[in-house]
Amino acid sequence: MEKIGFIGGGNMARAIIGGLVQVMPASSVHVTDHHAEKREGLSRDFGVVAHDSTGSWVTGMDLVVLAVKPQTMKAACAELVPWLNRKGAALSIAAGIESDTICDWLWGYPVMRAMPNTPAKVRAGVTGYWIPPRYPEELASLVVRMFSACGDVIEVQEERQLDLVGAIPGSGPAYVFRFMEAFVRAAMRRGIPEEAAVRMVVGTFFGAAELARLSGEPLAQLRESVTSRGGTTAKALEVLESRGIDAAADEALEAALKRTEELKTLFL
Ligand SMILES: NC(=O)c1ccc[n+]([C@@H]2O[C@H](COP(=O)([O-])OP(=O)(O)OC[C@H]3O[C@@H](n4cnc5c(N)ncnc54)[C@H](OP(=O)(O)O)[C@@H]3O)[C@@H](O)[C@H]2O)c1
Repeated sequence: MEKIGFIGGGNMARAIIGGLVQVMPASSVHVTDHHAEKREGLSRDFGVVAHDSTGSWVTGMDLVVLAVKPQTMKAACAELVPWLNRKGAALSIAAGIESDTICDWLWGYPVMRAMPNTPAKVRAGVTGYWIPPRYPEELASLVVRMFSACGDVIEVQEERQLDLVGAIPGSGPAYVFRFMEAFVRAAMRRGIPEEAAVRMVVGTFFGAAELARLSGEPLAQLRESVTSRGGTTAKALEVLESRGIDAAADEALEAALKRTEELKTLFL
């Protein structure tokens, strides 16, 4: 059985580990984090093996997941180098640091990348991953198995497409939450208590997303099926269109991608 080790046991590692232990024995999953409460929490909640620091345990890992913030990645790599074995690879989930950079920091160790998102916590994530050409099949299937336990998994053919994965599924839950907040406030301004407004709005987003996912119908067709000519939905949509919903989405995405480019140079 393969072994997977996590460097960093924060939010994203916790989300991934929660899925991972559904598809592999917890004893094959190792983790280290600077903070005792985080690593001990993971060990207590999921039964994984926690370590005080990076060390000889890393040598037994087939895959080392780099789950630290971009600003601490270089230091984490420096600690790892003495312990890396010859058979495995590293997988970075950090936004905006290219594989070549991490590979240099790991003195030439093979590096793959993936971009998960926080709904992985409830097994409803979307993860994009990129594996350099000619990597062993077993490594690719291990990565797919790990993220499939957290939701949907999409392979991208070029590393730079991960920036888009970061800007849509990665950041996207925040866009959706913001949109939901706007409708909650609009309902509350009209006298609906907050708890009921939140249930109404969250249920609407959930239901629409499930319908889109399960029916397989085009989104435009699903929208049209709710929108009778001259009806209430049509009137509301006219307002959203007049406020430039497509342009807003496009500009938001562009801003996220521009920031990704800036961040790429920040942590070198
Ligand atoms: N959150 C998202 O939606 C999302 C989506 C996709 C990708 N990501 C990526 O996921 C990565 C992790 O994000 P996160 O939100 O999980 O961060 P986080 O909650 O801060 O977790 C990272 C943890 O790793 C620890 N750490 C750092 N260097 C270490 C080392 N050398 N050895 C042991 N522990 C170490 C940190 O401790 P200290 O605090 O002491 O440094 C921290 O507890 C980031 O690179 C982020 O870009 C996040």
